[in-house]
Amino acid sequence: MKIPNNPFFGTHYIGKEERKAVNKVMKSKSLFRYQGPDLLYFTDKFEESMKKYLNVKYVLACSNGGAALKLSCIALGIGVGDEVLVPSFTFIASASSILSTGAIPKFIDIDETMNVDPKSIEKNISDRTKAIMVVHMQGAPANMKEIMKIAKKHNLKVIEDTAQALGAELNGKKVGTFGDCGAFSLQAGKTITCGEGGFFATNNKELYIRAKMYHDNGGYRLGSDYPTWENKKTFFGENFKLTEIQSAIALEQLKKIDKIIDKQEKIYQFIINKIDINYYKIRPFVKGAKTFKMSLGIIFETEEKCQDFIKFMNTNGIGFNTYCSNLIDKYDTFKYKHSWHKSGFPYSITDYVPTKCKAAEDLFRRVAWFNLSSELKKRHLKYIVSKLEEYKNEQTA
Ligand SMILES: Cc1ncc(COP(=O)(O)O)c(C=O)c1O
Repeated sequence: MKIPNNPFFGTHYIGKEERKAVNKVMKSKSLFRYQGPDLLYFTDKFEESMKKYLNVKYVLACSNGGAALKLSCIALGIGVGDEVLVPSFTFIASASSILSTGAIPKFIDIDETMNVDPKSIEKNISDRTKAIMVVHMQGAPANMKEIMKIAKKHNLKVIEDTAQALGAELNGKKVGTFGDCGAFSLQAGKTITCGEGGFFATNNKELYIRAKMYHDNGGYRLGSDYPTWENKKTFFGENFKLTEIQSAIALEQLKKIDKIIDKQEKIYQFIINKIDINYYKIRPFVKGAKTFKMSLGIIFETEEKCQDFIKFMNTNGIGFNTYCSNLIDKYDTFKYKHSWHKSGFPYSITDYVPTKCKAAEDLFRRVAWFNLSSELKKRHLKYIVSKLEEYKNEQTA
């Protein structure tokens, strides 16, 4: 049996609603969010709906999750000479958004939740540390209660990289809304999608204004007016704006988000409720977490046991594997301080301090992941459960 294991969630829900919305934008000939012959304001509508969904004061749509992370850094005034703590178990964009401001990432460790280990934060704070970039990996909330306590104690800003966890909650509060700002992605592999896209969320008006200016080439824009760069607050920026077509799709996807999340939960629970969780050690979640179930992570005692399990599952057509990319501090770009510029910017200004992320290195090799594709049907799930049982029985016979 061929078992789906693609990492697409919202993607599989693209249907007539999204097509209709795109057609509306095409008919209006108004693809730019701020001006057009018959502007339909889909980007404004998406931001309004997302504000309500997250229960947050400000949302700014932007071109992608990496851009939302950079906007978070810029809004918080992070730049040359600063250090930002970020877990080594993440996607490269977390670190490159920091580097692109002239600041340097300092990699910190994770625990079995596969998210930031709060203990690793205090160990790595230096007088350069300005912020912590928390990453809610694979839909699971990090321990925000502890992290916020530590941040407050050391006067550090908190950015939540929520690219992989839109819809996840901690004690009823959406992740991405605990820290100073949250960055989200609308890329094809995320909870909801418009192909590429992202957004920035905050409760702080000043941060919102700074992010909005930077995403609009640094200018200050009122309504649909041409922006101005002639007031004290404006600076230079980049163009990170989202188009009306993308926003129209994202808005339709947002209407489906509860359905998407519920389906993932059902898929996950079906497996968990039918396997021996005394034998299989499932990736734990922090207390009070409502996780977006994009994957199933199983922790093995050793790398060998993990590989043996993966081999068995793969032979049976089930795509368990170790995580799809390496720990990012292992990339040459950090090991050898690669830069696009001959000066070695920004490493030439602030030293990159390699750290030892011991738990991440160990866990990385011992966790088998399986993408819980929203295409998984009951027959697939029954088959997966039967193979998990078969493997357990073989090992315990
Ligand atoms: C943890 C994490 N951060 C940031 C990003 C960047 O998002 P985008 O691809 O929308 O730029 C991703 C995307 O995969 C991600 O997984």
